[in-house]
This record gives sequence, C-alpha cells and structure tokens, in this order.
Amino acid sequence: PFEKQVDSLLNLMTIEEKIGQLNLPSAGDITTGQAKSSNIAKKIEEGKVGGLFNIKSVAKIKEVQKIAIEKSRLKIPLLFGMDVIHGYETTFPIPLGLSSSWDMELIKKTAQMAAQEATADGINWTFSPMVDISRDPRWGRVSEGSGEDPYLGSEIAKAMVHGYQGDDLTKNNTMLACVKHFALYGAPEAGRDYNTVDMSKIRMYNEYLPPYKAAIDAGVESVMVAFNEIDGVPATGNKWLLTDLLRTDWGFNGFVVTDYTAIEEMMYHGVGNFEEVSAQALTAGVDMDMVSDGFLNTLKKSLDEGRISIDAIDAAVKRILTAKFKLGLFDDPYKYCDETRPAKEIFTKENKAFARKVATESMVLLKNDNQLLPLKKSGTIALIGPLANTAVNMAGTWSVATKQDLSNPLLEGLKTVIGDLATIHYAKGSNLDYDLELEKRATMFGKEIPRDGRTDKQLLDEALAIASKSDVIIAALGESAEFSGECSSRTNIEIPQVQKDLLNALLKTGKPVVLVLFTGRPLVLVEENEKVPAVLNVWFPGSEAGLAISDVLFGDVNPSGKLTATFPRSLGQVPIFYNYKNTGRPLGNSEGKFEKFKSNYIDERNEPLYPFGYGLSYTTFNYSNLKLSSNQLNSSGNIEISVDVTNTGNFDGKEVVQLYVRDLVGSVTRPVKELKGFQKIAIKKGETKTVTFKLTENDLKFYNSNLDFTAELGMFQVFVGTNSNATLSSQFELIK
Ligand code: IFM
Repeated sequence: PFEKQVDSLLNLMTIEEKIGQLNLPSAGDITTGQAKSSNIAKKIEEGKVGGLFNIKSVAKIKEVQKIAIEKSRLKIPLLFGMDVIHGYETTFPIPLGLSSSWDMELIKKTAQMAAQEATADGINWTFSPMVDISRDPRWGRVSEGSGEDPYLGSEIAKAMVHGYQGDDLTKNNTMLACVKHFALYGAPEAGRDYNTVDMSKIRMYNEYLPPYKAAIDAGVESVMVAFNEIDGVPATGNKWLLTDLLRTDWGFNGFVVTDYTAIEEMMYHGVGNFEEVSAQALTAGVDMDMVSDGFLNTLKKSLDEGRISIDAIDAAVKRILTAKFKLGLFDDPYKYCDETRPAKEIFTKENKAFARKVATESMVLLKNDNQLLPLKKSGTIALIGPLANTAVNMAGTWSVATKQDLSNPLLEGLKTVIGDLATIHYAKGSNLDYDLELEKRATMFGKEIPRDGRTDKQLLDEALAIASKSDVIIAALGESAEFSGECSSRTNIEIPQVQKDLLNALLKTGKPVVLVLFTGRPLVLVEENEKVPAVLNVWFPGSEAGLAISDVLFGDVNPSGKLTATFPRSLGQVPIFYNYKNTGRPLGNSEGKFEKFKSNYIDERNEPLYPFGYGLSYTTFNYSNLKLSSNQLNSSGNIEISVDVTNTGNFDGKEVVQLYVRDLVGSVTRPVKELKGFQKIAIKKGETKTVTFKLTENDLKFYNSNLDFTAELGMFQVFVGTNSNATLSSQFELIK
C-alpha cells in the first residue's frame, strides 16, 4: 500500500532530505509555546528529522508538527515516539507483573488503553512490546519483559501488538508498536546489562526468537534493535539478523530503528569508525538512527565514496514514509492533536478503575500458611516498611508518562479500603538499604524515597512500638522502582539486608506477619519463605497500587497470578528455568538429594524455590480425570486433552490451568517440559470445570539441527496442572 504516493514523494526529495527522514533525535527540553526556538526546530525546518521522541502533550507536539508542516520544504509530518511500556499516565503493573496475570484479553486491553491515552496526548508510536526472553534475574530488565517462556511470551507479544495497533492505524486512538530488543537482549553474560551475548543457533531459534517472530506475524510495524552483539557482530550492524532473518525469512516489511545511540556504540564494540559503523548499520537493514546522528552526519559522504548505495537509503526512506502514510499523517498531520481529548481520555476514573483490576490480577501469592490471608477488616493493623508509603515507586521502571506522585501508595489504599473498620498504624521501619550509594543508584529519575534523618535504631524502635500494639503486621518490603529496569543489574538478588533485619525484628514480636513484596525481578526468598507465614508478591502494581494490594490482602479479590519467571533458591542456580534439558546425568531422585557424578550441586538442590507457573489462591484446586481423545495424533488431525478442575476450598477463585509437553525422543535433545497451552478460568467454590486443550502436529514442531521447523514422529508426554511441576500425566504418539 501507498507505494505510488511514497515513490512520488521520494522523487521530490534531495539526498539530505532523504537522510533526514532516517534521523530520530530525542526532543530535549521543549517548553510549551517555545518550540520554535528549541534546538531541534532548525533541524526540522531543514528536513533533517524523521521523528522525535521523549516529548509529551498535545500543545507541544502540535507546535513541533507545525514546524515540519509549515516550515520544511516538503511538509513531511513527524513521527512522535515514546516508551509507553505498561500504560501511559494510567499505569499498569510492570510487564513482568502483567505477564503473571496470564490473561491475554486483559493484557491486550492494557495496550489498547495505553494507546488511547498516548494518542490523546499526541503520541503515535510506542517503543513496546519488549519481548526479550530472560532466564537471568540478575538482569534488571527482566522487569520489562514477560519472563522466561517462549510460548507465553509469544502470546503476550501478539496481544500487545494487537492492543496498540488495533486493526486500523488510521484511527486516532491506535498507534505504531515497536517490538524490541531484536534480538537476544535478555541473555547478557552474567546478567550485566549491555553485556555480550553468545548463543547457539538452535537455542536462539527454539527458545529466544519466538516472541519477536510472533510480534512480526501479528503485524507489528516497527522493530527496535538490541544493544548486544550476535555471533560477534553488534545487532545494530548485523545483516544476517536485520535482513536475512527479519526480512527475507520472516517477511517483515515495517521499519527498523536502533536503540539509543546504538550506532555510535558500534565504535566502542570495536567494529569501525563513525562513518563505517553508520554505513554498516544502514546496509545491515537499519532504517532509523536513534540519537547517534550517525546517519545524518556520515551517510552522504559514504554515498559519495561508494560505501553505501542510494538504493539502501531509498529503501529505508520508503519504509519510514510508508509508516507515516499508514498512520494517515499525510491526510492529517494533527490527527493526534485534539486539545479536547487529554482531559476526557487520560488518567480518567474509568481508566484508573481498570488499572486497579489489572494490578490485582498480576499479584502472586507465594505463601499463605494457615490461611493467614485474607485479613479481616477489623482490629489493629501495623503497616511497616520503606515501601509502605511511597507514591513514586508504585509505577515501577519505565513509566515515563506517569505522574509519579499521583500513584496510590499502600498506606493510602489501605485506609480507603478499610475505612474506619480497623485501626492502622504506620511506620517506615528502615531505609531502603544500609548502603546510601546503592540506595541512590536504585532510586534515580526522581523516584527517591527520601532517606530518613533518623538512625536505623530509631526507625526500628518506632516500628516495633506500633507492631506491639497491633494484631497483625503488614511488612511492605523489597526493591524500589529503579532497583530493576535498565542498567539495574544486581549480583545479590535478595531483599536488602536492612529490610531483612527489620523483617526479622518484626517476626520476633510473635505477631502474624504478611510480607507484601515489591520487586521487579525474581528474588531469592529462602529465608522469608521459611520464616514468614504469608508472602504476597505485588511487583510494582502501577497507578492504583495501594487500592489493588488492599483488595487482595482483604479478600475482595482472590489472587490468581502465576509466576512467569522461576524464583531460584540461590543466586548460584542462575540461569534457572523450567524448560531445561535432561542432560546425560540427571538426578535419579525427585527429593533433591545429592548424587555423586550426577548433574547437581553439593551445596544446593537443583529445584527452584518457586517454579515457573507457580502461584497460590485463597482457595484450593484439585486436578483429576486427565483424558486424551486418542493415544495417537496424526499429522492432519488433532488431539484433545481434558482435565477436571475442582474448587475444593472456601472461596470462588480463578485458576491458570497449564499444559506442558515433553518430546521424549528427538534428533536433538529436547526440553524436559514445554508450555503448550494455558487457560485462565473462574471456578466457584465447590464447582468442577472441565478444561480442554487441543494439540496439532504444528504445536509439536521445533527447529532441528538444520534449523528446519519440524515435528518428529514418536512418543510425547503431556502434563497438566497448576504450575510447571504439574504431575497429572499421560502419553500419545505422533504418527504420519
Ligand atoms: O525504548 C528504549 C529502550 O528500551 C532502551 N533505550 C532507550 C529506548 C528509548 O527510550
């Protein structure tokens, strides 16, 4: 589509104007009413800018767009991008939390609402979804993705792309999505952000690439390249990745943008000077240069010197122009600039109510001894912890559009939900960390929890004083927002020691303690799991955090979230994930007992603390009656796998029923289990529901050592259950 229009525009363009379309600077500081005198204005007038990001509000965006339309020679409208990652001003849980809802409709709706709000504010392009598979909780950006599983990750990638883009990009409430970070960004060595990635092709194709491909198949219009290298070539200059795989094999025809200054960074990777790396990026398949100015400053020279071809430039320009045509910007460059929309559509009561619901769906109940939860709305409650009364940390990482101070902290939410039914005492109890320097690093971007002037002892004494007056203690502990996210890798993935000391002191009082855990990554929680009777993992719940947490704590909502990333017992187990390979020396026992000359540790068992798919409910579910429609599946048919799930507890609840498959013999080694289906269903107390899954040969395909996507005949084992340790099991054979 739009080929003719694009070609005729291209014919009018000078080489400078063409290169200008490939340039994506950050907006910098543009003050409303002053856009004309901003640094970027002159460049826009000269046709040296294709799009801008980090700019927000109809007024500003309209002003800037006006410069492009009224002052530049060809009046080509600009794209306006932003990191709308988990909501816009109405903020949803961090993506890792969202994924824990296992609810694709809900996730799609969050993306729709994010698009509604962002487009109401002038933005037409989001740098989301982030679909990097990660098995390494040291890496801070696990918080931004959907966890460790390629199948679930692919379903979520699709849901988000559909949510943002809808089925009609010419509408004014849909926007371009951008799948990132292509590719393998979630597997940096030692979990250190931006570090080297090195991976076999077979692992890449089977375990890390599927979610990117799912986003492409779902029609995502743009792709952001990863910072890391692949096979020794920075992804930004990797022709195999950006052309052979992405365009030739996968048929992607949208546009490719680099990550922030990634072209410049190729020099530090050590693959050439500025001219060379810019030329390499273009030739590899990059269309748009984010912030490096490498295209802007060197491509003309490279063209004159024969380093690149005009065809490569034209191809990139065409893709950018096509995106602008698809959005309908040539018909109406101000289509996202309706001044009446923001007040009606952004951070509305309805949107906040939805954010509250979504947050409750993302929370994962990790432990609940003797049904301590749900709490009663009566008596005296002590709310203690550095995360108990902070608005700015509730939205979590990458919430650039969020008005942080408008988020609802736990203390406030608790008071609202409880009203005067119970008495609440609050104390901060401790700082975030003993180490001030670490605390500063973990609270960048204005999200700090002010360090208390009081000593650690004074803080603790105050907490113990209110604890002793209370019937139950809610301890709000864990990570602050910027403990995870970009450039927030950790070598210690436990709750900071100062908070552990506080928790231990609270436990010593003998009062029942509920740990409300804030985190952007899987943590090692062995001690907490041993000592604390109830643990509710709330991630970073977003705008309506306090209300949503209170809904769950007091049983107005029964938790149903399930982990999408394994929680290890010890950092030494990392990387740890449920779909591992059996090895030639698997353990012969399932109790985790050490066996010499088997694949295990002398000081730790192999299993994680909480497996993938794990999460409790206030009720209990019993699985029975696993049935297969046949014990054979042929290549043109399907097999139905059904199971009865009974709510055997005292609450209505939701359960995520999970189906795993093991390919028992393969031409290459196959994982011990792979998720192949899931259904989130509501079951009333006492009720039984039959859940049916369907598998076809296609679901059993994988990339073999020739990288052919194929299913191999033979025996398969299925497992159905409440998490990846599912025990109900049966077998079938794939036949011709
Ligand atoms: O979209 C982000 C990316 O995830 C990390 N670097 C900066 C980009 C734009 O803000």
